[in-house]
Amino acid sequence: MTDLQKFKTFYQLFRDVSRVVHAKSDIDEVLDLVVSRIVQGIGASGGALCVMDNSLGSLRVRSSYGVSESYLALAPLAGKDLLAWPEPDDGIHIIDDIFNAPRVKFPKEAWDEGVRMMVDVPLKVQDQIFGFTRIYFSEKREFSEDELDFAWAVNEQTSCAINHDEEIKSHILQYNQLASKADRMSSLGRMAAGIAHEINNPLTGILLYSSNLSKKADPGPFKEGLEIIMHETQRCKKIIQGLLDFSREKKPQKIQANINKVIEKSLALMDNELFIRRIKVVRDFDYDIKSFSLDPDQLEQVLVNLLFNAVHAVEEKGLITIRSKNSEDGKSIVVEVEDNGCGIHKDNLKKIFEPFYTTRSSGTGLGLSVSYGIIRNHQGRIKILSEPGVGTLITLNLPVLEEENHLR
Ligand SMILES: Nc1ncnc2c1ncn2[C@@H]1O[C@H](COP(=O)(O)OP(=O)(O)OP(=O)(O)O)[C@@H](O)[C@H]1O
Ligand SMILES: [Mg+2]
Repeated sequence: MTDLQKFKTFYQLFRDVSRVVHAKSDIDEVLDLVVSRIVQGIGASGGALCVMDNSLGSLRVRSSYGVSESYLALAPLAGKDLLAWPEPDDGIHIIDDIFNAPRVKFPKEAWDEGVRMMVDVPLKVQDQIFGFTRIYFSEKREFSEDELDFAWAVNEQTSCAINHDEEIKSHILQYNQLASKADRMSSLGRMAAGIAHEINNPLTGILLYSSNLSKKADPGPFKEGLEIIMHETQRCKKIIQGLLDFSREKKPQKIQANINKVIEKSLALMDNELFIRRIKVVRDFDYDIKSFSLDPDQLEQVLVNLLFNAVHAVEEKGLITIRSKNSEDGKSIVVEVEDNGCGIHKDNLKKIFEPFYTTRSSGTGLGLSVSYGIIRNHQGRIKILSEPGVGTLITLNLPVLEEENHLR
């Protein structure tokens, strides 16, 4: 098979896996397909996927293919110690000599099964290994970069699927517990997390294949285009991660920072958009503003969301004013984003922080609900004043702790 044919086969198998991850709700069916496709794709003799089962306190084989029941009955993949990943990193681990590998518990029995070599591919969530796929080979061989990339990408999708399934199960449990409480905001937030998962999976695919193509492409516009795709996809993944973090009530990673710098960075991200639409931005900063403890990435996300909303609300040649100042009592920093756009009708004002509320055809309706969560996690407040046909003023109020007041 030529490199291109192999690449096409991987791509086809990866698409099969992606499709199933999205279409099937039964996680066991998904895992069966994943293991069989990895084995076929990489030309192995068998495979087994095991995941940590906290109720058992050990790993449990969730799916296998091409491995005999009698071998699996020995529980070769049960020990919790197998999660301690071998040095040098937590990437794919190739076991060349099964008789000299502490990770292989029953080497003689494996040899009798016809196994000569094994490869362990970790399953991870947020950099934590919670299981792995072991792939068995009937003869020793070398692996191409494409083969290892393929196994890695399929495992990434699988990790997402398992994690998503577990979250859904725990959410169902929580839904039942919360059934009596009308907790609309947080249940919608969880739905948002579910959708974020669905988006994350295809993004992983786009990233993998654009990076593979880019490695093979000659320098020039085609390669540059692929690099833009990779860069933008990374950005989407970051945003999706932000949404997941929000729904998990991620604590802000606070450092001492100046809010004016965060505003400037957010405006820089919007530069192109503002230029194309010929929108004027007025910066009304208090340059004496105190530094305080904040999460610059999260606040940048809030400001970009607010600026995007303002951009969409104003017609071409609109005006956006962004202000920073100390509050009158000196206990907080105030940031305002004001636009002279279409404004919001008072009946709709109470809905705008609800996840999925949008009046824009291309909007997701998540910008303000994510921003609300971030500001709340900074113990701050977000206030909105709007007049249809006149414009909108959003005010962020972020408390500065007393002992930080002297910091500049
Ligand atoms: N500055 C504004 N001027 C007018 N309407 C606004 C403004 N900001 C928010 N809105 C209204 O609130 C809705 C919800 O805003 P939100 O940012 O949550 O979602 P979105 O902008 O529609 O989608 P996205 O998830 O892409 O941000 C918008 O669809 C719009 O109707
Ligand atoms: Mg928005």
